[in-house]
Amino acid sequence: MDESITITDNRTGETAEIPLLDGTVSAKAWSNLLPGIWFDDPSFSATSGADSDITYLDGAQGLLRYRGYPIEQLAETTSFLEVAHLLVRGHLPDGPQLKQWQSEIGEAAPIHENFHKRILEGFRDDAHAMGVLVSTIAAMSTFWPESKDVENPEQRQAEIVRLIAKMPTVAASAYRRNVGLPYVFPDPELDYTSNFLSMMFKTGDSPYVVDPVLHDAMDMLFVLHADHEQNCSTTTARVVGSAHADPYVTISSAAAALYGPRHGGANEAVLRMLENIGNHRNVDDFITGVKAGDQKLMGFGHRVYKNYDPRARIVKDAAHRVFEVTGTNPLLDIALKLEEVALNDSYFIDRSLYPNVDFYSGLIYQSMGFPVEMFTVLFAIGRTPGWLAHWDEMLSQNSRIARPRQRYTGPADRDVPSIDVR
Ligand code: SDX
Repeated sequence: MDESITITDNRTGETAEIPLLDGTVSAKAWSNLLPGIWFDDPSFSATSGADSDITYLDGAQGLLRYRGYPIEQLAETTSFLEVAHLLVRGHLPDGPQLKQWQSEIGEAAPIHENFHKRILEGFRDDAHAMGVLVSTIAAMSTFWPESKDVENPEQRQAEIVRLIAKMPTVAASAYRRNVGLPYVFPDPELDYTSNFLSMMFKTGDSPYVVDPVLHDAMDMLFVLHADHEQNCSTTTARVVGSAHADPYVTISSAAAALYGPRHGGANEAVLRMLENIGNHRNVDDFITGVKAGDQKLMGFGHRVYKNYDPRARIVKDAAHRVFEVTGTNPLLDIALKLEEVALNDSYFIDRSLYPNVDFYSGLIYQSMGFPVEMFTVLFAIGRTPGWLAHWDEMLSQNSRIARPRQRYTGPADRDVPSIDVR
């Protein structure tokens, strides 16, 4: 049976039947009856902004799937590059396709020398890695003007390869500049994650040898971050991309949104919070402060998940495996106590606040040797295929420019007073 809603305009008595499609009503059909009456939804809590084939998320049940595949299976059995292919090309690669994809990405990984000499060297020594990343991705727009041909699907695919390939190079270069180490050039012989870790941590001339447990944890963290449907940064990418901006400034704007502590910047904020709490014996006082509104429990809560974020569970398990190699992170005890206290406290239960993906990831990153300023950069590397998949999907859908309405709440019409009476 086709489902629908009937609405009545009580001012005129007119009614309209609006079809329900997959839990949504068409705003256009609604507006036909009520022209000039807008939905008041500033944070898009009740607004669907896209038809998308990419990611399915059921917040009540804690389900997450990329193109139908459960996140748990992808995290356990596939590499990040396979998942990136799944997101941006629509299917998991077979053997030859994966080989081809790896070599395309490997070949595109180097960055122009001017990046090192002119752009990266221009930042202050204490520049935050996310500020550097956002700026340098935007700067790439000037290196590939052909990327502006956004209505050409083949050009879009070429830029997708470049961006996925260059993100680790830019990220690692930003880190090495900050700590005063010479840049390490990408090695096309290495897989994506080994290459990134080598560009980050290699010293001297001998090859960087990464522990397989740490490699797999890093790669899996990229998989877990790869997409999350219409989150703030992805929506930013779709909105900026809808103006037909080029992919570099589009992805830069998405990364800028991610930087915020309510979004991907939360992984850094969690680590700083744990350090401030200092000892698991201080957890109860901290939680009392959260309930009094003094601060938020970072890494908790989510707009869509009203259940445990399935990614947080996987990250928590991975943390234990990583700590067997690196030794335990002393902040783990505080995180575990925070989770235990919060999950048994009515404040958090009543508001359905659970750990999200950012709660445990920073503990792993820190134990692997990443400074806190790099945490959101790691999220950005993982999320790049997701941003790009949505950007490409939006452009392939013949989309219109994003342009919401507003409820005007300012002064009514008035005359401009002369300067002496203002
Ligand atoms: C990510 O959207 C995505 O998919 C994002 C993401 C992705 O993969 O892209 O999953 C990644 O961004 C994860 C979220 C990381 N952020 C944090 O960990 C920061 C801490 N969390 C919050 O600030 C908050 O929960 C948000 C921003 C994540 C969600 O905000 P909402 O949906 O607007 O929730 P809300 O502010 O309306 O909260 C409802 C209630 C409020 O209390 P009341 O006014 O009803 O009394 O819950 C309270 C909030 O004050 N609340 C919290 C809390 N989060 C919400 N109270 C204490 N600590 C928290 N963390």
